[in-house]
Amino acid sequence: MQNKKVLLTRIFPESGIKSLKEAGFDVTAWDKDRPMKQDDLIDQAKKHDVLFCTLTDQIDKEFLKECSHLDIISQFAVGYDNIDVAEATRLGIPVGFTPDDLTDATADTAFGLLLAASRKMFYLHKSIIEGKWEYFRPNANLGIELKNQTLGIFGLGRIGIEMAKRCKGAYNMKILYHTRKPKPEAEKELGAKYVDFETLLNQSDVISVHCSLNDSTRGVFNKAAFDKMKPNAIFVNTSRGQVHNETDLTEALNSGKIWGAGLDVTNPEPMQPDNPLLSMENVAVLPHIGSATVEARNKMAKTTATNIIEFYKNKKMPYVVNPEVL
Ligand code: DGY
Repeated sequence: MQNKKVLLTRIFPESGIKSLKEAGFDVTAWDKDRPMKQDDLIDQAKKHDVLFCTLTDQIDKEFLKECSHLDIISQFAVGYDNIDVAEATRLGIPVGFTPDDLTDATADTAFGLLLAASRKMFYLHKSIIEGKWEYFRPNANLGIELKNQTLGIFGLGRIGIEMAKRCKGAYNMKILYHTRKPKPEAEKELGAKYVDFETLLNQSDVISVHCSLNDSTRGVFNKAAFDKMKPNAIFVNTSRGQVHNETDLTEALNSGKIWGAGLDVTNPEPMQPDNPLLSMENVAVLPHIGSATVEARNKMAKTTATNIIEFYKNKKMPYVVNPEVL
């Protein structure tokens, strides 16, 4: 692999860089702690054979038109909605991703946000900083309990299953789910029940979103959906912000259509500091850190590198979105 040049579009964990260097790749890493500007990304990618990229890189039609020479695109993320996969496939470029590495980290984030929202934790933490902790007030700051409630999972993949396990184990929650295809194994393991979207909305006390972003999931949590949810419902999203309509979510919280929300992803990102959601008592927001553990990020970097190494060695990739091009 002496002559193959890999462009890393961000400062990624060393585990991935080390693997690539040991395998003999010529590695160039963008050294700034921010995404490359699109012109720089295209200019740099033109000089490389491989792109080691992530969700903030726009690998759209325009990019692919300019960089159709790439041998492989290896994405450091489970989601790949930033990549025009149909176009990459048409050009014969395989796209790698890292689906197995951040499952626990992201499920923990979803579970943590649920707890934080249900007990107003972020809001009350902020109130201490603002000097508002005065005395014990028996009838103030009241959250809600999760024991024996119903959890509705939207998108029962790896992360959704782990979130369901946490909620069942900790709170004996009943599990409903809505996903593209029913999952009999999960039903057996979790006692989960497949329901249509409407039923998920009107029977769940908590709805946790774990789907990928695509044309069928974009904006599905909108006014019509929030209107059908229970007034005590907590909406949790750790997948992609574009799955919910943020204006409609804000309105649903303001009007009491739903009770609370926990968001690791927002629409748009980054969320602006004056966003009204940040001042709401029953809302907890994080800056898209679902996979941000040392363990997950190291594994993700390693898998991103392994996809590249295996592609050149054996024309195989352990995790590929469009295997038909291999
Ligand atoms: C992903 O992998 O898609 C997460 O959103 C970021 O790690």
